[in-house]
Amino acid sequence: MIPASVFRCLCLAFGLADTVYGAKLTEVKDWGGRNSSTLSMHIYVPNVLPPKPAVIAVPHPCSGSAQNTFSSVTPRLASYADKLGIVLIFPSTTGVVNTLRNCWDDRGPNALKRNGGSDNKGIVNQINYVLAKYKADTGRVFTTGSSSGGMITNILLATYPDVFAGGASFSGAPAGSGQPARTSAQAWGDVVRIAYPEFNGTRPKMQVWHGTADTVVPYQYFGHQLGQWSDALGVKFSKNVTGDPEAGYTKMEYGDGTKLMGYHAQNVGHVVPSPDEPLLKFFGLM
Ligand SMILES: *[C@@H]1O[C@H](CO)[C@@H](O)[C@H](O)[C@H]1NC(C)=O
Ligand SMILES: *[C@@H]1O[C@H](CO)[C@@H](O)[C@H](O)[C@H]1NC(C)=O
Ligand SMILES: *[C@@H]1O[C@H](CO)[C@@H](O)[C@H](O)[C@H]1NC(C)=O
Repeated sequence: MIPASVFRCLCLAFGLADTVYGAKLTEVKDWGGRNSSTLSMHIYVPNVLPPKPAVIAVPHPCSGSAQNTFSSVTPRLASYADKLGIVLIFPSTTGVVNTLRNCWDDRGPNALKRNGGSDNKGIVNQINYVLAKYKADTGRVFTTGSSSGGMITNILLATYPDVFAGGASFSGAPAGSGQPARTSAQAWGDVVRIAYPEFNGTRPKMQVWHGTADTVVPYQYFGHQLGQWSDALGVKFSKNVTGDPEAGYTKMEYGDGTKLMGYHAQNVGHVVPSPDEPLLKFFGLM
């Protein structure tokens, strides 16, 4: 397999990152169900869409924006969306957490509630807009984000397991991490179960990425997320695969690897490069 770093260089050499997009990132004003003045919505809709396209919501890190996430955090995702026919949503917030700007609400009184009117609900409203407008596939809705975007990904999967088929958290933290730390995987799993006690369907799959040298969101949150979802999904650690997707990474499989996967990134800091292919394959989109 070609290491991701080589692929990135080729991309730049051929100017792909700037030129292959068929469409443009566009702001949507009339997404409706707008419940908070802090939220905005941008979308990337490929010029050619298959019937019932999949949808991926990509919340930004703290201090981020839709535009910055589109061009820098997930710079190749739009070209995959063109190829695979996926509608991308780039929600954005001007919320403040711990004096940091443009952060998703991961700890307010409504953060972990369904229909509590917090950012999780706002993002789901944006997804519902896209599902209706583009007749998208309700069975193939995903979310992925880095840092604060990874934290809200955990919260979205916990509070709206009926909306999502899967998620991926980069350098993030489990649902409930804004509250006092839990001491067991089961206690982290309880956060997920309590978020929607009546839920009895199939929970979304989860992929978690974290660098050991992360000084912004400590590496310990990697284990907490894996514990949370291992418990909530009922899958136990099964094996490590070293050097996957590239040298320095260890893929940690849970169960048969289809429900939960961790990626330990040795000596990687807070920015884990967005590895589109392992993500899109895990989601079943390529
Ligand atoms: C807006 O938030 C309130 C709670 O603050 C909630 O009762 C209501 O259902 C929310 N509406 C929408 C459309 O999300
Ligand atoms: C799951 O929940 C739905 C909706 O509340 C309910 O109709 C259904 O009977 C439940 N199924 C099981 C197996 O409990
Ligand atoms: C799997 O890899 C992780 C990350 O390197 C490590 O912490 C863990 O001990 C490994 N588990 C086994 C059974 O080798």
